[in-house]
Amino acid sequence: MVATASFGLGTLLVTAFDPTLFTGDSCLSNSFYGNFAGHGVFRPDSACLDSVTQFLPSGTVIPVKDDAELVWIEEQSIEESLKSGAANFGDKLEEVLLTIPRARDTYPAHDFDGEHEQVLALPTSNHELLYHGDSFALLSLSTEYARVIDTLIPPFWKSTLLPSEPVSYVPVPSDAVNRVKKILGDVKFDPTVASIVSNISVAQMNNDIRWLTGEDGKSGIVSRHSFSSGSRTAAAWLSDRFEDTGATCELRDFLTGFAPNVICRYPSTVNTTATVLLSAHYDSRGSFGSTRAPGGDDDGSGTVALLAIARTIKRKGITFRSNVELVAFAGEEQGLLGSKAYTRELRAAEANLTLMIQADMLAYHAPGEPAQLGLPDLIGTPEVAQLVANLSAIYSPELQVGFTSACCSDHQSFHEQGFPSTQVFERAGPIADPMYHNSGDLSERKGYDLEQVKSIAKVQFATLLSAAGFDLPDSSA
Ligand SMILES: *[C@@H]1O[C@H](CO)[C@@H](O)[C@H](O)[C@H]1NC(C)=O
Ligand SMILES: *[C@@H]1O[C@H](CO)[C@@H](O)[C@H](O)[C@H]1NC(C)=O
Ligand SMILES: *[C@@H]1O[C@H](CO)[C@@H](O)[C@H](O)[C@H]1NC(C)=O
Ligand SMILES: *[C@@H]1O[C@H](CO)[C@@H](O)[C@H](O)[C@H]1NC(C)=O
Ligand SMILES: [Zn+2]
Repeated sequence: MVATASFGLGTLLVTAFDPTLFTGDSCLSNSFYGNFAGHGVFRPDSACLDSVTQFLPSGTVIPVKDDAELVWIEEQSIEESLKSGAANFGDKLEEVLLTIPRARDTYPAHDFDGEHEQVLALPTSNHELLYHGDSFALLSLSTEYARVIDTLIPPFWKSTLLPSEPVSYVPVPSDAVNRVKKILGDVKFDPTVASIVSNISVAQMNNDIRWLTGEDGKSGIVSRHSFSSGSRTAAAWLSDRFEDTGATCELRDFLTGFAPNVICRYPSTVNTTATVLLSAHYDSRGSFGSTRAPGGDDDGSGTVALLAIARTIKRKGITFRSNVELVAFAGEEQGLLGSKAYTRELRAAEANLTLMIQADMLAYHAPGEPAQLGLPDLIGTPEVAQLVANLSAIYSPELQVGFTSACCSDHQSFHEQGFPSTQVFERAGPIADPMYHNSGDLSERKGYDLEQVKSIAKVQFATLLSAAGFDLPDSSA
């Protein structure tokens, strides 16, 4: 006689994402796992599922083991020219899954023969394809593969490890939007701001990026993948460099095995809880199993922009009226994991964040294209994007500003916790960097433009100065 084992089975619900799913006391608020390219993923209990399927127009219900690690995979928005010759998503996905061996493990199925109870090793898989479309898929993976799937997929795909617990979805409150509108209404040219932001040093950024990519031969960094030793080397170095500029930094762990977030703060000179935050992610990734992941553009460029701003704060002796945080996140490449952990803490502490800007990929534009600044077309607070655009017109008129479909860096974590946010990106269009997520993502190459990084960093810095308020030492007033 064979007894059937009772696996812990739950249910996954995938439905078109819409903030109204959370209105009232919808039970979906307690079972939300994220919004992936417009697909809301939930793990409702059976009572919740019964109640919501009555009003949801459509959706897919998938049985899933309670302890399964889920990973969302999607094709990124990229220039057509980069796609040439690539196999379609479905075929490529099959190839990727073939690289993940099937496994045997010991789920507690029992075989009784009257005398012995024998634990059977049931053939199970390291991977199950749960749900997919033309350009995305939801997988269940064993922990071992869930953590490294980003290294097995093609460079122009991204993977997101779903959280182990439900997340909240908090719309940005109207008083927070009104504070941004107030700053926007006060925008005008300020010669002091112009003089400060133009002091950002391209030569210094060049030194910093060569250290982070390992190109200078001094850091020994081969990869800044969140599990690599290089990421920890980079974290310690970044923390020291930011502290050199007068900040107080913390290396904050968020998930076992991952390199920490580097969280640096400058205190406010007046008694306020208001905080302005600029960020980038210092982790990198390669693809197809390559261990070299220099991340010169993604996101070494955003990281050195942050550092360039810090170095200028020090050179000019700037103090801020608001609290200021400069944060270099890790775990971005596995699904914004560092920023998700940090924004959960900020929400729990009811942090008073005026606004935040994530810088992710600032350096590359196709040869022949002008310097650009891309702002997110979907994820973020439109008023923050407008503020950045207006300040760009004033302090970096050389940049062509437009929208980009390149999507979903760490600002999405802030957006989903109800904090005003946006992202700055290198192109007013989709990703065009041929070395994206590649061992060739170095700073010494055609199209890698530190002058563009400086132009965008000037805009981030001008936004920080405008939103936080600042003072200079008397001698330089
Ligand atoms: C920045 O300002 C300092 C003085 O405050 C000056 O020595 C330095 O040359 C300036 N650098 C740039 C790149 O403007
Ligand atoms: C700062 O402001 C808070 C709240 O407005 C007040 O309770 C506190 O006493 C103030 N602290 C100082 C040092 O003025
Ligand atoms: C948040 O900061 C603003 C200033 O930007 C201030 O007016 C407000 O009182 C602060 N809110 C809290 C809860 O401290
Ligand atoms: C911001 O830019 C928009 C569009 O270019 C313009 O209409 C608006 O007047 C600007 N606002 C400010 C405050 O400069
Ligand atoms: Zn990135």
